[in-house]
Amino acid sequence: MKRTAHLKSLAALLLSASLLSGVAHAQLAPASAPTAAPAGATAEARKANIVIIGTGGTIAGAGASATNTAAYQSAVVPVDKIIASVPEISKVANVKGEQIFQIGSESFNNERLLKLGKRVSELLKQPDVDGIVITHGTDTIEETSYFLNLTLKSDKPVVVVGSMRPGTALGADGALNLYDAVLVASNPASRGKGTLVVLNDEIHTGRDVTKTNTFKTETFRSPFGPLGYVVEGRTLFYRIPARPHTMQTQWDIDKIDKLPEVAVVYAYGNVNPASIDAAVKNGAKAIVYAATGNGSVGDYMVEPLKAARAKGVQIVRASRTGSGVVVRNAEQPDDKYDWIVTDDQLPQKARILMALALTQTNDPKALQQIFWKY
Ligand code: DGL
Repeated sequence: MKRTAHLKSLAALLLSASLLSGVAHAQLAPASAPTAAPAGATAEARKANIVIIGTGGTIAGAGASATNTAAYQSAVVPVDKIIASVPEISKVANVKGEQIFQIGSESFNNERLLKLGKRVSELLKQPDVDGIVITHGTDTIEETSYFLNLTLKSDKPVVVVGSMRPGTALGADGALNLYDAVLVASNPASRGKGTLVVLNDEIHTGRDVTKTNTFKTETFRSPFGPLGYVVEGRTLFYRIPARPHTMQTQWDIDKIDKLPEVAVVYAYGNVNPASIDAAVKNGAKAIVYAATGNGSVGDYMVEPLKAARAKGVQIVRASRTGSGVVVRNAEQPDDKYDWIVTDDQLPQKARILMALALTQTNDPKALQQIFWKY
C-alpha cells in the first residue's frame, strides 16, 4: 500500500515536471531522435530513418500451428511483411525494408557475410540513414554481429535482431524484439557502441553475445552481462564495450573482398588427429582448436598440431567451455610451439577474428596481440 502510494506520487511528480519543462518528458518518451536533427529542432521533431535488412531466420519463420513454438520453417516471411505486422514501429521511426537474403543463419558463409557487411556499410554512408536493423537467424547472430562490430566504419547504430519463436506461435517474441531493435537503432545513445544485438528485452554487444539454449527465448548471454535493457519503449544503457570496435579497429569492410579459410576443430575424448590433417589439406590458413578446459591439448594431439604449424598453418588454442580466458604458456608451451591463444573469444568468434587478422598479417606475434586487443 505504502509503496503504491509512493509510486503514484512519484508518477505525479514526473508528469508535472515533464509538463512544466518538457525535459523529463524527453527522457521518458520512446527515444526516437535522429542523429542529425535540423537546427532548432527538438529531439523529437523528426523520427529517425532506419533501414531494416532482412536475412531470414525464425523472425521470418512460420509454423503449421500456433503450438509449434520450436518446430517450424524459418526464413519464409518477407521483411516488408514482418515490418507491416508491427505497426507500432512507425510511431518511433521511418522504416524501410530491404531483403538481402532469405536463409537460416546456419547458411551464412564468408561470401554472404561480406555481402551483408558491404551493403550495411553502403547504407550507413547515406546521410538520410540514421541506423540499421538486421533481422537474422539466432544460430549465428553472434558471428555476424562480431564481424560487423570489427569491420564497419561508422558510429551510427547497427542492431542485429532475431527471435526464438516464429510469428505464428503462441508467445511469439519477434514483434517485440523487432520493435525494441528499432527503438535502440533510433536512439542517439546507441551511437558509437559498436554492433548491438537486441533480443528478450536486452541489449548486448556483438563482441560478447552468444546463444546458449536451443529453444528458450532467454538464450542470449554475454559473459559480462548485457549492456542494457529495453523497457516500455525506453533504451537503457548501463555499460559500454571496453574492447575496440567499428571506428577504432584496423579493418574496413569496404576494403575486404575475401576472407581466408580458418577451420575450427572441436576437441573431445578420442578426438581423431586426422581432423587436423583434413583441415590443412582443405586449405586452412589457421586452425582454431576448440580445446577442453583452459585450452588443454591431449598428448596425442600435440604432434599433429605442431606438424600443421610446421606447414605454416597458424594454431589458435581456444576453449570449448563457453567462457573464460585461455592462458598463454599455461596448459601448453605456446612460445615454444609458436601457437596463439584466444584470450576469451569463443571458438566461432576466434574464427572470425583470425580470418580478419590474416588479411593483414601472418606473424604469430602480431596475431597474438590482435587476440589480446579485440
Ligand atoms: N536455423 C535457425 C537460424 O536461422 C533458426 C533459428 C532462429 O532463427 O532462431 O538461425
